[in-house]
Amino acid sequence: MEEHSLSSSNKATKKASLVLDKDYVIAAVDERLYGSFIEHLGRAVYGGIYDPGNPNSDQNGFRRDVIEMVKKLNVSVVRYPGGNFVSGFNWEDSVGPREQRPKRLDLAWSTTEPNEFGLHEFCDWAKEAGSKAMYAVNLGTRGPDSARSVVEYANHRSGSFWSDLRRKNGAEEPFGIKLWCLGNEMDGPWQIGQKTAHEYGRAANETAKVMKWVDPSIEVVACGSSFHGMPTFGSWELEMLDQCYENVDYVSLHQYYTNPTNDLPNFLAKNIGMDAFIKTVASLCDAVGGKKHSKKKLNLSFDEWNVWYHSAEQDKQILKQNRWGQSLPLLEDVYNFEDALLVGGMLITLLRNSDRVKIACLAQLVNVIAPIMTSKASCWAQTIYWPFMHVSQYGRGTALRPVIKSPLYSSTDYDDVPFVDAAAVLAEDDSLCIFALNRSTENHIELSCDLRAFENLCLEEHIVLQHNDVKAVNSESEPYTVAPRTYHEYETDDGKFTLRVPALSWNVIRFSEQDTEKG
Ligand code: AHR
Repeated sequence: MEEHSLSSSNKATKKASLVLDKDYVIAAVDERLYGSFIEHLGRAVYGGIYDPGNPNSDQNGFRRDVIEMVKKLNVSVVRYPGGNFVSGFNWEDSVGPREQRPKRLDLAWSTTEPNEFGLHEFCDWAKEAGSKAMYAVNLGTRGPDSARSVVEYANHRSGSFWSDLRRKNGAEEPFGIKLWCLGNEMDGPWQIGQKTAHEYGRAANETAKVMKWVDPSIEVVACGSSFHGMPTFGSWELEMLDQCYENVDYVSLHQYYTNPTNDLPNFLAKNIGMDAFIKTVASLCDAVGGKKHSKKKLNLSFDEWNVWYHSAEQDKQILKQNRWGQSLPLLEDVYNFEDALLVGGMLITLLRNSDRVKIACLAQLVNVIAPIMTSKASCWAQTIYWPFMHVSQYGRGTALRPVIKSPLYSSTDYDDVPFVDAAAVLAEDDSLCIFALNRSTENHIELSCDLRAFENLCLEEHIVLQHNDVKAVNSESEPYTVAPRTYHEYETDDGKFTLRVPALSWNVIRFSEQDTEKG
């Protein structure tokens, strides 16, 4: 037995085990699982990714320091331009000479939109950031006509009114946007142009149809319920899919979690609710497909997910004082360590459901409920930046289903919650990564990983995100208060690795194939 000293601790040790095999395949992970979201809201665009004149910005006004941080997150797709914003947005306002673009009232967020940053700027920015665009069309105040026009503008090469206007506006090459959202949260009374499930299903069907007539290579996402707790959840999916099943490719899910009563064991179990939400929506899709005798299987786009609640009171005050202001600091949640743990848990859930969830967007990316924050002078990583970065970096390949045995607990809303939750991904180069969350507030856990089915694996790295204060945050002056560290304690015996997983911690355990030639 090779020992790297699993030192003893005063706190009681609990044990958990995990068995993995190459055959325990869930699915090939779609790289679009690591998407994010930029909405025209608060300081996401103006003062976030775009800040002309700032010494950190380039000639396009793009903040280079922010782009560098986005690149480290390896964000595959970025949803844009909303969100609630899109339901009152005229895409035509956002193209052409800047000085001629109109300023508009944004009724979704009670602010003023200057349209200085628009479709061309976004596509250029996404390219610089190494991401693909996912574009939402307005099904609130508009419909199929404006949707088919924007597809023609963005994707048709030339020789038509809208494509030639794009070329005139400086983009000879089409943008080639492959992924489109059919509106946003259309079931919600807060949405401009809210619809019933039947009304939305009809609109989504006709819109998807003509968008695909313009460009048959695109994929479209129909709006599912705004969140699991919507009173119409379930019936919304069934009724709207009844109208549009054959013309859409994905159904959206949105979910934000909160911890208003400071109930940590319950908060950390919330990704179990996310698992159930995903399974229910997949079943609803299959029920409609079954009823229609369809050969088609719909997949899911979890295109808004995160923790969101810290900024609620502050936002009320900001809007009270400055209704119709521009680039107000709205939705600027400051994330603490416990939020990062749940975000890790949500990433585990996404991987566990990667057979159905093909697209997911951490909402959002910069300043607005975001992993990246900016000031005029700098930018820094919030606590939630780290788990997203880890899974985006090491979670590409084939998702495997670990068989986990863990002690359990019960929380306010959930029974039989395993202290250890985990997911695993086998990369193309045969390296293996286990992502593990320890939800125990008291105990570190000795996690034994049985990897005998893999042969010749060696532990490459054990990265741990841990802090003794669950309310600890990162800030501009102290950006690394909550940051990952590497652990070196483990024992190994004949393909079994035992590691210490600290109480309340997020863990990334990376294995690579040992070079047997070298012994
Ligand atoms: O991400 C913030 C908002 O949350 C989005 O605009 C909306 O879609 C959701 O309600």
